[in-house]
Amino acid sequence: MSAGIDVPELRVHDVTVRFAGLTALDGVSFTVAPGSIHALVGPNGAGKSTTFNVLSGVYRVASGSVRFGDAELTALAPHRIAALGIARTFQNIVLTRGTVADNLMLGRHTLTRAGFLTSALRLPHVRGEQRAHRERVREIADFTGLGARFDTPVSLLSYGERKRVELARALCMEPKLLLLDEPVAGLNTAERAAMARTVASVRDALGLSVLIVEHDMGLVMRMSDEVTVLDFGRRISGGTPQQVQRDPAVIAAYLGGATDAPVGEETR
Ligand SMILES: Nc1ncnc2c1ncn2[C@@H]1O[C@H](COP(=O)(O)OP(=O)(O)O)[C@@H](O)[C@H]1O
Ligand SMILES: [Mg+2]
Repeated sequence: MSAGIDVPELRVHDVTVRFAGLTALDGVSFTVAPGSIHALVGPNGAGKSTTFNVLSGVYRVASGSVRFGDAELTALAPHRIAALGIARTFQNIVLTRGTVADNLMLGRHTLTRAGFLTSALRLPHVRGEQRAHRERVREIADFTGLGARFDTPVSLLSYGERKRVELARALCMEPKLLLLDEPVAGLNTAERAAMARTVASVRDALGLSVLIVEHDMGLVMRMSDEVTVLDFGRRISGGTPQQVQRDPAVIAAYLGGATDAPVGEETR
């Protein structure tokens, strides 16, 4: 894994998102520093997944801006945002088909100059290109602990391994910013710790930025450089893990939402 990519800052400024009568995000601002691991936390329904959907171009803002370096993202289609180097994983896993290698090569296709049509024609330069992609994909599989599973159908993998395939597939896009929506939800304690280590080593090796939605507060506090806290669509706190942990507003939000225990098994 090679480092040294040029990673821009992500600036979310005064973003509001509405769904028929409901304000899902209400003037939210925060900045993800280049190369940092930034956690987005808050009780269920706080607006975390909505934020990810804005950043990846799935939801449109009512107002506000999202800048990734010089690029304004709020008007861009998802594939244009992906092409700028923003890759995401989803809260609910959808991987069911193909081998690990197949799924990772799919993550590669935004980078494949030749595309699927010409690769079907098996032109010599395309074969060379495909080989280079496959080597890189193999390297990413090894790095994310999937090397031994490279040719295994994903249907035979454990839930924890599929979560890793999701991460690896996002990395295959060679992102500058990685958006991880609850990457350890549903994993056991040992798997959680291992995933956290993998995310940290990916950041260290590649120098990319990571924005992570996570309910496991212990894990968030250990792994993040900075934390933004949302509650009912508003940013109620932000700063280092230590600052946020002591903030009375955060404590109140989590106690107030005691029925939404911060363990994470929501549906969106
Ligand atoms: N596509 C949508 N249509 C209508 N309401 C939505 C949609 N997406 C999210 N919401 C609502 O916006 C609020 C924030 O949801 P979400 O961002 O999923 O919260 P979180 O990920 O923090 O649990 C919730 O009230 C949710 O029901
Ligand atoms: Mg969510």
